[in-house]
Formats: sequence, structure tokens, C-alpha cells
Amino acid sequence: MRNLKTYFIAVCCLLLSIAAFAQEFVPNYEESKIPAYALPEILVSKEGQSITSVDQWETIRRPEIVTDFETYVYGRIPKEKFEVQKEVLIEADILGGKAHLKETKLTFSRQGRQISMNILLILPKKIDKVPVFVGLNFYGNQTILDDPAIAITESWTMQNDHFGIVNHKATAASRGVRHYRWPVGQIIARGYGLATIYYGDIDPDKDDFTDGVHALFYQPGQIRPDKDEWGAISAWAWGLSRSMDFLEQEPAVDASGVLVMGHSRLGKAALWAGARDQRFAMVISNDSGCGGAALSRRKYGETVGRITTSFPHWFSDNFDQYANNEDALPVDQHMLVALVAPRPVYVASAKDDLWADPKGEYLSAYRAGEAYRLYNLKGLASETMPEVNHPVGASVGYHMRTGVHDVTDFDWNAWMDFADRHLGRE
Ligand code: GCU
Repeated sequence: MRNLKTYFIAVCCLLLSIAAFAQEFVPNYEESKIPAYALPEILVSKEGQSITSVDQWETIRRPEIVTDFETYVYGRIPKEKFEVQKEVLIEADILGGKAHLKETKLTFSRQGRQISMNILLILPKKIDKVPVFVGLNFYGNQTILDDPAIAITESWTMQNDHFGIVNHKATAASRGVRHYRWPVGQIIARGYGLATIYYGDIDPDKDDFTDGVHALFYQPGQIRPDKDEWGAISAWAWGLSRSMDFLEQEPAVDASGVLVMGHSRLGKAALWAGARDQRFAMVISNDSGCGGAALSRRKYGETVGRITTSFPHWFSDNFDQYANNEDALPVDQHMLVALVAPRPVYVASAKDDLWADPKGEYLSAYRAGEAYRLYNLKGLASETMPEVNHPVGASVGYHMRTGVHDVTDFDWNAWMDFADRHLGRE
């Protein structure tokens, strides 16, 4: 009898694991299998009013859309005050004296808790009031340039044996491993500065809400954000806004020319930061995919269901209810891109990055043009995607380059050309 019971339990376990396996996520890569969908209107208010002027956009519709993204997607970012301390860690001339590097530790404190983030700023010498690209990096500031002056991050990092990350700690072997993604020499040669921060300084990328910036803002007894409160993407966007506070105080920086960029999950954070914080003069999303530039309703590649399961800590808990229920979402990602208007926005995709749905990224950028038209600005001209490796667009820029999910010189050159045009530097 006992044996029979054990046998029965074993068979049940086997059947359950087969069922779980059968449900494993299979991404859709066929246009014909995309369900019919209707995108929420950018230019119709919640009360059904047509938005036809800049004034209506700025006072009615834009705030509604920001609130929806806060409440249902990324989670509300606290507005309470905090303290900041600055400590310059190092200053040095680099690139044969062509550029100046400064790394500053910013410590944020509140309610007896604190976190620190190191901002690495590299500026061309002999140029006053330099426009600056700012972006978060994945493995520490020391990875973007092999220079012993840069501090090796002490924060928790994602494990990566190839990059010299040992037990989630970066080692000296990680110096410069991501240099190819940050063409510092070319950026400096074209008269731009670069600021970067390790994203894990702001909130380590794991499903744990005790170790990052969130805890500074908890109510007494609170141990994780409420349903409509910030997930990790909002925390990283908060960090980008803190870098803006810092850059505004740097005399050599042109604070009216701070261009926020990000790749992949950090492209999601860059879009959200730039959408909310209008001090950023331009926003660049690279391969940001689901929860970034790509339309959620297309269900191509990564979906809301998949992303909220694999990365539950990235979004507000409210976002979970839209897994396989995208049509109920009050917003879609074209509205996030539209929030950047009238400031220039650039969406970049890679042809083989199907997981991020290049076409969904394009359509979202295309539709965002509606908000730009209110300002008499031009977005993307056609609903049809441009040829590969062919940057297009006026105030909304787009390209799909050949290759995979990555950041390349092609991407950077396109962004710098776009920035030159918009900053009147051609
Ligand atoms: C995963 C995730 C994407 C994300 C990417 C990245 O692939 O599914 O949403 O953009 O990681 O950040 O590299």
C-alpha cells in the first residue's frame, strides 16, 4: 500500500513537470501570428477629448500618460528629499592629454540608510560647455576604458567569468572589457563628453528590494515597494536623474545638452528617465525591446508575460496583471517615446535582435511622431521600415543596423550625427 502511494506521488510529480515543460515560453517570430491589436491613442485624453494643441498635450494628456506608466508599468518614483554628498575620487588627463577624466562618488542618504554611486565623467580638453552623453553600464565604470585611474566597482555585479567577475565582484581583469561599446576616443574627437555610472550602484539587478535605493524611501516597517511603487527600471531612471543633477553643477558641461542613452534593459531605463525628466535634451534607446521601445501588444519575441516572469523586479507589481492581457494595458510603448516630445528621440534596433522586436520598436517610434506634430516637428516619414543600415528621421530618429543585440560604432556614429544636427553642430 505504502509503495503504491509513493508510486502514485512520483507519477504525479512527473506529470506536473511535463506540464510545466510544455508551458515553457516559446517566442513568436511570425508576423502572421501577431494577434490583431489596437493601440491606445496618444492624442485622446482619458475623458475622450481630442488633443490638438501643445497646451492640451502638456497640461492634460502628457501628465495622464506619465501617471499611467508610473502606476501600471514602471512604478512611482518617490519625490521625498534626500541628502547628497560628493567626493572626487580621481582626476587625470587621458588619451594623450586630449581628454580629462574625473570620477566622483555621490552618496545619497535618508532615514539612516545610504547608497553610493560613482559617476565617471570624461570631457574633451579645451572645449567649454561640452554636450555630454550619459548612460548606465552593465559591469562597472572600469569596464568601459582600460585605465588604472578608474575605480573598480565594489557593488554586486552579475556573474560573468569572461569579464573577470568572481563571485559577483568585479576584479582587475574586468578593466576595459566593454571598451568596444563605449568608443571614448571617437566621442571625444567629435567634441562630446561622456558620463557613465554602473547601474548596480543604484540597485543591484536581482529580485531583492533591500539592497538598492528603494530602502532609503520605505515607510516604517516597509520591506518592499507597494504595487504601484518603483521597480528596478524606475530606480535606474532615478539614478540617471541624479547624474543630471550632478552634470548641471559641472561648469565645463553644457547642461542644456545632456543626451541620455542606454542599451537593452538600460535602454528601457534611459527611455523612462528621458520621458519623465525633461532636463535631458535628447533620448537614445538601443535594442531596448519589451518594456522599452517595442510595442507590447505585438507579442513578438519577448512578451509582458515572459519579462514579468524572468525579471519580476524590473517593473511595478501592477504590471504583472498585463501578462497575456496586453490589450487591457492603458498605455503601450509608443506613448513612452511620445513623452520625449518635443526633444529629439532616437530608437535603434539590430536586424538579428528578434527577441527585442525591431519592427515593434520602429512602429512605436513611428506612432510617437503624432506628439511631435503638435510642435510642428517631423517624426518618421513612413510606416514602412527603412533599409538596413540606413538612419532616417527628423525629430524622431531610427535605424536598424545589421548584426545582433549589442552596441557598435555604427550606432554611436548615427547618434552623434543625429546629435550634431539637433545641437546645430554640423
Ligand atoms: C534579456 C531581457 C531583455 C533585456 C536584455 C538585456 O534578454 O529579456 O528584456 O533587454 O536581457 O538587458 O540585455
